[in-house]
Amino acid sequence: PRSIWISRHGESMFNVTGQIGGDANLSPRGQRYAEELPRLVRNSAGDTPLTVWTSTLKRTAQTAHHLPYEKLSWKALDELDSGVCDGLTYAEIEQRYPSDFAARDADKYNYRYLGGESYRDVVIRLEPIIMELERSENILIVTHQAVLRCIYAYFMGSSQEQSPWMEVPLHTLIRLTPRAYKTEEERMYADV
Ligand code: F6P
Repeated sequence: PRSIWISRHGESMFNVTGQIGGDANLSPRGQRYAEELPRLVRNSAGDTPLTVWTSTLKRTAQTAHHLPYEKLSWKALDELDSGVCDGLTYAEIEQRYPSDFAARDADKYNYRYLGGESYRDVVIRLEPIIMELERSENILIVTHQAVLRCIYAYFMGSSQEQSPWMEVPLHTLIRLTPRAYKTEEERMYADV
């Protein structure tokens, strides 16, 4: 049966400083993940030829750089747009936009950043991606935390509203194999 592999980009400089959004480069540790990823994928996929989908942001292209497969970048895979909060840390958001910070905490799925997106918005913009995935063979998606949470929830049969709480950590390759009644999952961790 066919599988879908998903991975977040390697640690970025914004991950190091705790800033959200942006278009930062990989950190040295994230760079090591990018170098390790071809081995991790090969251990799981063997000789199966994959197609790699990334977002349009640098950190996903940098993470996919060493993968010896055909690559395609999708704007629809860009990270949840955090609008006016782009580039801030959670502490800065709480300080500058306290009522927004509380509103997000109260309803993370529906909360839309000022000038940006909600998880619900991301689920909607991912519809074409999901459709394309459903009719494709052996795709490896390298993208962002919020986006992968939505894709993961979809394949695991979790409700869309649960998307913001899916566990999709850095430096982990996840293999999803849809079966008749449920999707099988395997996680591979890179020690970088
Ligand atoms: O911090 C990394 C990141 O991908 C941010 O760019 C993004 O805003 C955030 O995670 C999404 O996670 P959460 O919805 O939990 O804030």
